[in-house]
Amino acid sequence: MNKKSKSMAIFSIALILIAGLSLGGCVEEENKIIVGTSADFPPFEYISEDGTFVGFDVEMVTKILEDAGYTVEVKDISFDSLIPSLENGKIDVIAAAMTITEEREEQIDFSNPYYEADQSVLTRVGNNLNLNTRQDLQNYTVGAQTGTTGAAWIEENLVDNGNMSEDDFRRYETYTLAVLDLVNENIDAIVLDKPVAESYVKNQNVEIVMTIITEESYGLGVKQGNTELLEKINSGLATLMDSDDWDTLILKYFE
Ligand code: ARG
Repeated sequence: MNKKSKSMAIFSIALILIAGLSLGGCVEEENKIIVGTSADFPPFEYISEDGTFVGFDVEMVTKILEDAGYTVEVKDISFDSLIPSLENGKIDVIAAAMTITEEREEQIDFSNPYYEADQSVLTRVGNNLNLNTRQDLQNYTVGAQTGTTGAAWIEENLVDNGNMSEDDFRRYETYTLAVLDLVNENIDAIVLDKPVAESYVKNQNVEIVMTIITEESYGLGVKQGNTELLEKINSGLATLMDSDDWDTLILKYFE
């Protein structure tokens, strides 16, 4: 082989390699699902010590999607931006302990329910709130994450009827920040999903002083009309919930 054809050969091999790589890249992109969460909600989604996203939802959705042949990337997005991000295609799936509500169902499609929860009132240990009924919360400063059912509960039951001043209702971008403010004595109480309150009780100086029965069901969210993905998620969810892996997941994150 002369010098010229040798370099031609190397050139073609390089071309083939590049073509192969980019093709491979495309195929992978097509099969990639971006999952949006709000990683401030242990044990469902939170950031581990090494900085990765972990939790019941994260592990569950990853398993379902990987079993369906997808690769998964998790993005941390503030809770009230999750639905807009799904609508404008920035993410493909919401896995954020999101309660299935009629209002949200007008914007996105939900999977079958995978977890049931009520709301609760969380306060600092030793902060003797005088709470005989839930209306007594109106006498305190109360926090919740923006856009959540906990925040909606405060609005509907305490603020909208004029009993609690707007100033006493503190909205936070994350529940992590709300708990920090509670512990630092900047607010008196937080309204949040009970399983998450129970998780904060385990590692912060906080306690649950009231349960608010709301009977919420969590679902995974997809863009409205994305039935192909929703069907895969629902069948994967059913298989997972029927398997021992489900009990293992529950034990790992809730015991
Ligand atoms: N279940 C509540 C809701 O849907 C709170 C969810 C908050 N989730 C989160 N990852 N911060 O409004």
